[in-house]
Amino acid sequence: MLEVRHLAFSYPGSQFSVEIEHLSLAAGESVALVGPSGCGKTTFLELIAGIRQMKSGSIQIDGVDLSDITNLESFRLNSIGLVFQEFELIPYLTVRENIELPYLIGGERQESGRANALAERLEITHLLKRLPRRISQGERQRVAICRALMAQPKLILADEPTGNLDPLRKKEVLSLLLEQSKQEKCAVIVVTHDSDVLEEFDRVITFADLSGKEAV
Ligand SMILES: Nc1ncnc2c1ncn2[C@@H]1O[C@H](COP(=O)(O)OP(=O)(O)O)[C@@H](O)[C@H]1O
Ligand SMILES: [Mg+2]
Repeated sequence: MLEVRHLAFSYPGSQFSVEIEHLSLAAGESVALVGPSGCGKTTFLELIAGIRQMKSGSIQIDGVDLSDITNLESFRLNSIGLVFQEFELIPYLTVRENIELPYLIGGERQESGRANALAERLEITHLLKRLPRRISQGERQRVAICRALMAQPKLILADEPTGNLDPLRKKEVLSLLLEQSKQEKCAVIVVTHDSDVLEEFDRVITFADLSGKEAV
């Protein structure tokens, strides 16, 4: 489902660089990505999502090479579920509108049934009519996760998705993400610092191990 080879990237004017020799994820497989702050985990997820452009190397998602895609926004919307550290909720849209955003942008029929089911599972049904600023940080995180799951993506990239949650919710949010990956044959990469949730994943990869040698 995901195939990364010989990836190289650096920020303009910065000494920091990311080098990934090889990472391969099967459909339905889940990986926890760990490593110290500042080592490049977020940058790596942004490269996979096509938000940042790699200097060299190749990234394939579901057999499609990222560099061959002409409309990256549309591809990302339909194939990748993103949960980023800063949530990226739209402040002037309600929680429901934020969750249904992948459909609203894509101009497709609204999947209210799916939004309702996911909202119920994550216990945010009572928040659907509110604006993001009227809910707590942890609730925003769950809304962001709901949104990522909406489009039934091939790949989910989650950057510390449980960072703002209490221990009970952590497990719940992760099990929702991982259950989704198994049921819908969707590959998942989760960046996490929570050592108590690592056992839930098929594999745990240390970021430093991705450079210079085979990671699978
Ligand atoms: N837009 C940017 N421009 C220049 N350097 C950046 C930018 N974003 C992040 N960095 C630097 O890249 C390094 C890796 O950052 P990041 O990928 O966020 O690491 P992590 O997610 O593992 O904490 C850090 O040294 C950070 O300061
Ligand atoms: Mg980060």
